[in-house]
Amino acid sequence: MVIVGGIYDVLAPLRSSRLLGLITSYLSVKMRSEGSYYVYRKTLRHLEWSFIFASIIEEFVTVEMRPMFMSLTINNIIRMVAGKRYYGDGTEDDNEAKHVRQLIAEVVVSGGAGNAADYFPILRWVTNYEKRIKKLAGRVDEFLQSLVNEKRADKVKGNTMIDHLLSLQETQPDYYTDVIIKGIILVMILAGTDTSAGTLEWAMSNLLNHPDVLQKAKTEIDNQIGLDSLIEEQDIVKLPYLQNIVSETLRLYPVAPMLLPHLASEDCVLDGYDVPRGTIILVNAWAIHRDPKLWEEPGKFKPERFEKKGEDKKLMAFGIGRRACPGSGLAQRLVTLALGSLIQSFEWERVGEEHLDMRESEKGTTMRKAKSLQAMCRARPIVQKMLDASM
Ligand code: HEM
Repeated sequence: MVIVGGIYDVLAPLRSSRLLGLITSYLSVKMRSEGSYYVYRKTLRHLEWSFIFASIIEEFVTVEMRPMFMSLTINNIIRMVAGKRYYGDGTEDDNEAKHVRQLIAEVVVSGGAGNAADYFPILRWVTNYEKRIKKLAGRVDEFLQSLVNEKRADKVKGNTMIDHLLSLQETQPDYYTDVIIKGIILVMILAGTDTSAGTLEWAMSNLLNHPDVLQKAKTEIDNQIGLDSLIEEQDIVKLPYLQNIVSETLRLYPVAPMLLPHLASEDCVLDGYDVPRGTIILVNAWAIHRDPKLWEEPGKFKPERFEKKGEDKKLMAFGIGRRACPGSGLAQRLVTLALGSLIQSFEWERVGEEHLDMRESEKGTTMRKAKSLQAMCRARPIVQKMLDASM
């Protein structure tokens, strides 16, 4: 399949444990540093402010959540990688931002598309899929190269991921080529945006279908953080119930339900089956997460199950072992903090009486909700307080 081939070509440089290690440690250091903390605050504030501008202090209004979650996660990654913002905060009419938003939208849509000609080669004569994807790849490469060139030309070195990779390029030019740097940026956008945004959408949908769980999370936040200051990243440890909501969401709705394809590097036996070297193995994490032999009432959304010690060790939403997701720490903190902020600052209700339709979309490489989430929301008094304080 052309597009999967494309993504795997990009992932290929990341297979090196040196680079994976670099990304993992970079992400965890970044998360702890002032820089990313600022990015988080700004990004989450932006999300909150956009609600406020929709003048929802007094009344409930209907909000389309998916585009907001996407803007949040894309801004978060691009600000870490290049220190830029392409969504919200006055970028609506900026030409560069418009161009990049359009490009990213095309990449996300094409990333989830299949190529019928892979299965029926005859179709190659009637479809222009490959040509279109190659053209898109050229435009993406041009954009990524412009980000790298811009950072290279900066007189003062910043603290973005590209800055760090360029300084590694100075000492190890054969290894940290522009192609490798562009591959890393691309894979961060591809692997780190739709996944976190999708998880946020599933989490919020679950809360709307379970108002008792939402209320319990709100009480925990109000008791632990109070109503005078916005929740911060370091508060997450004080909010175990909120963390359990995220775990329960990842259990029932893992956005990468089959993980990524693995290849057996040697002959082995899996669950009694002989697996020859070179076999592609798909792990069905979705089924494991709903296996009644492993979980009590597996179909039920019950964050309390994670109060039992060791229960979270059974989760496979990020894979396990050396090839597990290097962005899991970042993703869990972003999702938990964003969800906590939304619960702390706003009242949430379903648009209608009936429960939300939780069916999964059949399209795309990540498991998205088939129906994009709409929710009713109204600001809580803390928002007015924060607004007054910022005047
Ligand atoms: C809720 C959000 C996320 C979920 C559920 C998720 C899940 C996964 C899974 C299941 C894999 C494959 C693991 C395997 O096959 O064993 C993976 C790989 C990967 N993820 Fe994530 N991910 C998330 C967010 C992120 C973020 C935020 C980043 C980076 C910014 C990221 C970067 C990557 C990369 C680079 C790989 C490939 C690693 C390799 O090839 O060895 N992911 N992710």
